[in-house]
Amino acid sequence: MTRKKLCIVMVGLPAAGKSTMAAKLEHCLAEECVSVRLFNNGDVRREMLGDSDTSQALFYSPDNKEAVSQREHIALINLERARNFLGDKGEVAILDATNVSAKRRRKIKEFFPGCPAFFVECRNDDPELLEASIERKALLPEFAHLTPAQAVESFKERIRYYQSISQPVTDEENFVVIDTLNNRILDERVQAVLPHYKLVRDLLVSDWVRGLYLVRHGETAFNLEMRIGGDSDLTRKGIKQAQALARHFSDVDLPYVFTSNKIRSIRTAKVICEGRADCRRRPLSEFDEIDAGMCESMTYDEIARTMPKVHAARTRDKYNTIYPGGEGYVTLKERVERGVKKALYLSGNARNVMIVGHQAVNRMILSHFLYRRTEDVPYIYIPQDRFFHIVSTPSRKLFELVKFPC
Ligand code: F6P
Repeated sequence: MTRKKLCIVMVGLPAAGKSTMAAKLEHCLAEECVSVRLFNNGDVRREMLGDSDTSQALFYSPDNKEAVSQREHIALINLERARNFLGDKGEVAILDATNVSAKRRRKIKEFFPGCPAFFVECRNDDPELLEASIERKALLPEFAHLTPAQAVESFKERIRYYQSISQPVTDEENFVVIDTLNNRILDERVQAVLPHYKLVRDLLVSDWVRGLYLVRHGETAFNLEMRIGGDSDLTRKGIKQAQALARHFSDVDLPYVFTSNKIRSIRTAKVICEGRADCRRRPLSEFDEIDAGMCESMTYDEIARTMPKVHAARTRDKYNTIYPGGEGYVTLKERVERGVKKALYLSGNARNVMIVGHQAVNRMILSHFLYRRTEDVPYIYIPQDRFFHIVSTPSRKLFELVKFPC
């Protein structure tokens, strides 16, 4: 093999975000005209052994000798396929499997003499996200014969088996440890010259949004009265706006629609998702509208009259002003960014994702992808008869404000 070849080896417990990361690497490297291929052990397992037998947690027990040898055989099949690929015209092979034991990693290195192995360990230490990822895994066809609760328990047991044999990747010559929620590098060491290293490293830490539709909820009773915050429902016009969005997106595949916990956001999403069996709605409190504290449910005029200091401060410096007992844009930033990361993580490789947010929240989401000076952020135009379409991959950036007929 020439020195141009690279073997990227994913490492990590089940539900740590490996496959999402591996698919992102494959997609982006291919866009850069690198000859790349993904080798997923789970796919070979399902191909060879079917779903139900290997969905049992016991299949992953290190003490289950027969299953261990079946799993080693599966790993070997993919190693051979990857070797053939690299031996031919392939440049980067991505091995997508847990690869948590040092023994397995040694075997991989022995399999590709002359081709450096770059171990990419994915970590997901956020308990809430881990739980959500496991719930998502429990919906896979391989768990169809179990109740959701049984499937979740079985998957957790599988994780525990892998945990019991897990050894630190930090002993490897070339490795990186990624916090998959935050696209952040936690640890790394690279001792060899790795082809495509810079590109791969950039991809590991960059956002990857192939199609984000950022929608604001439809008109509410509070909007009509110019009252802020609260939890009011949609008006007749608001429902019509949501129905118009449903029509506009009728031909668009929408596997994930994220909302806040507010009635207006949930109601809008419900109308959009009506009749779509494949659409999963998920409320995230990170997308709740800015908390106006003592000013909640007041009109802007009432605030100006009864709380002139707050009004004056917002007029002077809207971004940094914090409502008494509530939030300001400056404090909203962190939780909204976390919501964006959560939504992108939970939607995995979905082609399209929708967020039904609020005025202030959508301003923050937008500014996460499109740089704006902080003082301009609270004035970004967030209408209810338009949505933002955002694409943000290393090779493509798109931000368009789309008007839909309503
Ligand atoms: O008025 C609708 C609303 O979503 C309020 O709930 C929220 O306080 C406000 O917009 C945020 O916008 P601004 O910061 O411009 O007041």
